[in-house]
Amino acid sequence: MHDDDTFAITEHLEKVFTQAIATAYPRFSNVPAIIAAVNASPKFGDYQCNNAMGLSKKMKDEGINKSPRDIGLEIQRCCPASPIIEKIEVAGPGFVNIFLSKEFAVSSLTRMLREGVKPPKVPRKRILVDFSSPNIAKQMHVGHLRSTIIGESISRLLEFLQHDVIRINHLGDWGTQFGMLIAHLEDRFPNFLNESPPIGDLQEFYKESKKRFDADESFKKRAYNRVVTLQSGEPAATKAWQQICDVSRKEFQKIYDRLDVTIQERGESYYQSRMLTVVEFLRNKGLLELDDGREIMWPDVNKSGIPLTIVKSDGGFTYDTSDMAAIRCRLEEDLATWLIYVVDAGQSTHFHGIFKAAERAGILNPNIHRVDHVQFGVVLGEDGKKFKTRSGDTVKLSDLLDEGLKYSLKQLQERGRDQILTPNELVEAQEAVAYGCIKYTDLCHNRISDYIFSFDKMLDDRGNTAVYLLYTYTRICSIARNSGEDFSNLAEILDKFQIVLEHEKEWKLVKTLLKLHDVLMKCANGLFLHFLCEFCYEVCTVFAEFYDNCYCIEKNKAGEICKINHSRILICEATAAVLRTCFHILGLKPVAKI
Ligand code: ARG
Repeated sequence: MHDDDTFAITEHLEKVFTQAIATAYPRFSNVPAIIAAVNASPKFGDYQCNNAMGLSKKMKDEGINKSPRDIGLEIQRCCPASPIIEKIEVAGPGFVNIFLSKEFAVSSLTRMLREGVKPPKVPRKRILVDFSSPNIAKQMHVGHLRSTIIGESISRLLEFLQHDVIRINHLGDWGTQFGMLIAHLEDRFPNFLNESPPIGDLQEFYKESKKRFDADESFKKRAYNRVVTLQSGEPAATKAWQQICDVSRKEFQKIYDRLDVTIQERGESYYQSRMLTVVEFLRNKGLLELDDGREIMWPDVNKSGIPLTIVKSDGGFTYDTSDMAAIRCRLEEDLATWLIYVVDAGQSTHFHGIFKAAERAGILNPNIHRVDHVQFGVVLGEDGKKFKTRSGDTVKLSDLLDEGLKYSLKQLQERGRDQILTPNELVEAQEAVAYGCIKYTDLCHNRISDYIFSFDKMLDDRGNTAVYLLYTYTRICSIARNSGEDFSNLAEILDKFQIVLEHEKEWKLVKTLLKLHDVLMKCANGLFLHFLCEFCYEVCTVFAEFYDNCYCIEKNKAGEICKINHSRILICEATAAVLRTCFHILGLKPVAKI
C-alpha cells in the first residue's frame, strides 16, 4: 500500500495537514500544522491536529468570523488521502482527531519483523561528537563518566539515523603541567628512555611532582624548561610525555572497554601547529587585542561577555586557544557540519565564547553549521551533596563500576538466579544489570538537571529503571521460546500467519511501538535521550497491560499447551525488536536470560 514506511508519523501528518490547511485557506498556506499524539482516550483518536482555534483567531483579527468547529470541518474536508489515516473526526469546539489505520499498522509491523527495525530517513550529515575528554595524569571523574555515557549514546543515535559520525576524545594531554611531570619522571625513572616506567598510580605521581614544584625552586625552573623543550619537539621530552600519556591512556581504555564505548583519541596536543596557525589567522584579521601583556579576543563585536585569552603574557596558549584551533579544524578540515560538545554545564561560558568567536572570525557559518554544547548537571551523593567517597575523596570510576557489579550480583543471588543460570549467563546478566543501570540512570533524567547516585534506586525493579526494562525484555523473549514452536525465522511464520489487531490492548501496544520514529527524531533534534528512556518505559508498561489481557499461549488444566496465538507472539517479537533498538542506543545489553 506504500513503499516506504520509514518515516516518523507526526512528521508525515504534519505534511498532510499543512497541505489540508493550505487547500482550505490558501491565504494561510504558510501555517504549519500542529500535530500532537493523544494519550488520553482512544475515542479522541491517536493524533490530533490543533490548528482550528489559532486559525479562527487569526481570521477574527482580519474581520472574518468563523468558528473553530467550522474550520476543523473544513480542514477535515480538504485533507488529502493518506494511507496511514483510517478516519478523521471533528470533536467539541474544533478538535481534529486523527485515527491511525490498522491496515497501515499491520503492514508496518510486518515489514519491521521481516527486515528489522529501520531508521527514519533524514538527510545524511557529517557530525563530530566531542565527548569523554578526561585529562592525562588526573582522575577521570563522574563528570567525565556522564560525558562518556551521554556522548556514546548520542553517537549511537546519530549513527542509527545513518549519519557519518566522528567520535573524538579531546584528551587534556598538553599544557604546562607536563613540564613538572617530565622533570619528575626523569628523576624517579632515569631509565625511562629504554623501558616504560612502572608508574603504578599516576595521580600519586602527579601529586608528588606538584609538591616538588611548589616547594623546590630549582625543580620549578627545570619544569618550566621542560615545557619549552617539549614544545620544541625535543626527543627525550617527547618520549617522557608519551610514556606519561600511555599510563593514563591504558586506565581510560579499561573504563571504555567495560562500558562498551568506542572513541578516537585526538587530544589537545593534536592542535599544536594548528594553534600557531589559528593565532596567526586571528591576528591577521585584526581580532586580537592586547590586554595587560595578553592577547585576547572578544567573542562579540560590541565587547560584551567575557573575552577569550588566545595568547598568554608569556607567549603560551590556553584552553581557549586549543578550542579555537579545534573548531577550525573540525569545520574546515574534517568538513563536519554539526559539532557536538558533551561537556558539563560549568563550561557553558567557555563554549558560548568559542562558538561566538568562531562565528565572528568567519570560521563558523550558522546558515551551514550547527554547533551544540550538550551540557549536563552534576552527580550528587545520597546526601544531596557533591558525589564523594565516605572518606571525602573523589570517587574512582573503576571502583564505582566494581561496586555496581557487587550490587547486581547480590540482587541476582537474592532472586535465586545463580541457581538457574549457567556461570557464563550469570556473569553476562551481572554486567548487563550493573553497567546498564549506571548508564540508564544517567540517561533517563533530563541531562540538564543534577541527579542523585544511588545503587539501591537504580537497581529497583519497578518504575523507570534499567532493571525493569531488562526483565521485561527477557520476559518477552521467553514467550516465543516457551511456545514450543520455532520462532527464529519470522519470515516463515509471517508467510503462514497474519497479524490481526482485534483486542484493544493489542492495538494500543502496536500504536505505541509505531511512535519509535517520532521519538528518535525528537531525541536527535534536541540531543536529549531521556525521551527515549521514557518511550522504553511506556513500551514496557503498555506491554504489561497487553500481556495481562491477551493470552499468547493457552494451556489446559494439565498444564499442556493447547493453543498458540501466532499473531500475538509476532506482536511480542516486534516489541522485543523495538526495545532492542532502543537498548542499543542507550547502551543496555539485552540478555535473553536473567
Ligand atoms: N578536558 C576537559 C575537562 O576535563 C574537557 C574537554 C572538552 N572538550 C573540549 N573541546 N573543550 O574539563
